[in-house]
Amino acid sequence: MKRTLFLLVAGALTLAASTPATGIVGTMHDLSPTGSTKATVLGVGSNGVADASGNYTNTATGSLNQVCVFCHTPHQKVNAGGITGYDKTVPLWNHVTTTSTFTPFTSANLVQTAGVPTGMSLACMSCHDGTLGVASVYNKGPYGSAIAYNTSVGDHFLLGDNSGRMAVGGYNLGTDLSGDHPINIIYDSTSAAAALKDPSTLLATNGLFLYSATGKRTTTNGDKVQCGSCHDVHNWQGSTGLSDGSFLRYTNVQSALCLSCHNK
Ligand code: HEC
Ligand code: HEC
Ligand code: HEC
Ligand code: HEC
Repeated sequence: MKRTLFLLVAGALTLAASTPATGIVGTMHDLSPTGSTKATVLGVGSNGVADASGNYTNTATGSLNQVCVFCHTPHQKVNAGGITGYDKTVPLWNHVTTTSTFTPFTSANLVQTAGVPTGMSLACMSCHDGTLGVASVYNKGPYGSAIAYNTSVGDHFLLGDNSGRMAVGGYNLGTDLSGDHPINIIYDSTSAAAALKDPSTLLATNGLFLYSATGKRTTTNGDKVQCGSCHDVHNWQGSTGLSDGSFLRYTNVQSALCLSCHNK
């Protein structure tokens, strides 16, 4: 009996030890002081410093000493009037939204037309087009510390002086998305005729989401591919603990992610 119990406990421990960590803490999307060393952005300024190799470190002891604040705020009421319009598309969105003009993916073979980023994809591009500081948020929270406001963008505070942008390179997709997988594009049973799988299987089989027309995730799956169809912003290893990371929702070993949608 004792031995069985021991084996059970040992088994549970082995499982625990081999189960990869999931979630956002400690990933590249954790820009708090403890997590930010994972990211390489152009961070110079009062609350973020870059070392010689360009690694960004958040040295804040006050308001930026949080994880969610870079993207969400519990109370969206900056200034009179509050945060309006787009910024309510992603729940409790707190990041300044990019105003860039994007070039979408085009191809003569497309059944549907790829759009420029809207909805949740625009949220991603508000850091990933490299035009805004990653810490450009509306509401820095109540832990008030001396954070410089950049008057050129109203009351939005930026890390340092409009720096802290994503470094030029792989993570910074820029504004020309003609070389990036189509997003903001309809994927329904009509387009499925173009060698795509039945869209109704995506969520159930592979945990991939399609989004509403405005780029919102809904409880009932929508019909548009957005960044969030392939990526889970909160989980480096996806919700099932992928070994190949990259915030992917489904493993891409053997191109399994691609094959969840494409009949190839
Ligand atoms: C608050 C800013 C911010 C937002 C918003 C944001 N990211 Fe990131 N993301 C980062 C930073 C910073 C890095 C690390 C970049 C670096 O090291 O230069 C990163 C890295 C990544 C990577 C890692 C690439 C790899 O494979 O190593 C992926 C993928 C990614 N982001 C996807 C997304 C997607 C999808 C969204 C929208 C749902 C998003 N991000 C929104 C800041 C952001
Ligand atoms: C890098 C930006 C970023 C950070 C940091 C971030 N989120 Fe999010 N969050 C998003 C985006 C983008 C969405 C919309 C996702 C979608 O539509 O698929 C979202 C959606 C959500 C949602 C609603 C839908 C869902 O996915 O459950 C919750 C709840 C949430 N976030 C909580 C949190 C919490 C709690 C933290 C901190 C521990 C956090 N987020 C940190 C970007 C972020
Ligand atoms: C069709 C699936 C898919 C869509 C849609 C998608 N990605 Fe990715 N993304 C991937 C895969 C797979 C990787 C893993 C790296 C690789 O294989 O190049 C990746 C990698 C990345 C990286 C790391 C840099 C790189 O080039 O490897 C970033 C940053 C990123 N994605 C952001 C985004 C953003 C922002 C969007 C929306 C504009 C988006 N992705 C839409 C599949 C997708
Ligand atoms: C969530 C579903 C989904 C995933 C995952 C996905 N795709 Fe796609 N892909 C689409 C849709 C939808 C289109 C646009 C189809 C259309 O309208 O013709 C598309 C278009 C493309 C095109 C352009 C086709 C053309 O006619 O020009 C290529 C190439 C492509 N995908 C490759 C990939 C690769 C490689 C991966 C894996 C990294 C991948 N896709 C993952 C849904 C997906």
